[in-house]
Amino acid sequence: REIHILNGPNLNLLGKRQPEIYGHETLADVERRCRALLPEGTGLVLRQSNHEGQLVDWIQEARAAACGIVINPAAYTHTSVAILDALHAFEGPVIEVHISNVHKREAFRHHSYVSLRADGVIAGLGIEGYEAAVRRILSLTGAAG
Ligand code: DQA
Repeated sequence: REIHILNGPNLNLLGKRQPEIYGHETLADVERRCRALLPEGTGLVLRQSNHEGQLVDWIQEARAAACGIVINPAAYTHTSVAILDALHAFEGPVIEVHISNVHKREAFRHHSYVSLRADGVIAGLGIEGYEAAVRRILSLTGAAG
């Protein structure tokens, strides 16, 4: 079984982009930290795209391949009904992650379409939020694989 970690626009620049908000660690660091949490027999797929439709395609792919989805939709969090609808078609647990505390920021970041589907929402824990999300998916789906 697999956990899919999907990341939206500009997160390819994680570590370089506004480090005062998002920190100095990169998506490769996220992947390494999350892999370290997995029991034998559980795989991890971490992907990032700047394109909404690509994220929709990956969520659809996860229907057959993933036991759970961790998603940081980045700016699409606040705009994308298409990503919300795709997640509604996924049956396993979905955990929404934001590196920054979106509630401490501009008002337009306070609303999330994805939260209408997410089983849990994590914001403001930095990239540790991804680790917390993976732990939650493991506990919801049974850690033994
Ligand atoms: C973000 C918060 C979003 O508002 C923003 O557009 C991002 C990243 C976060 O991880 O804190 O790109 O999802």
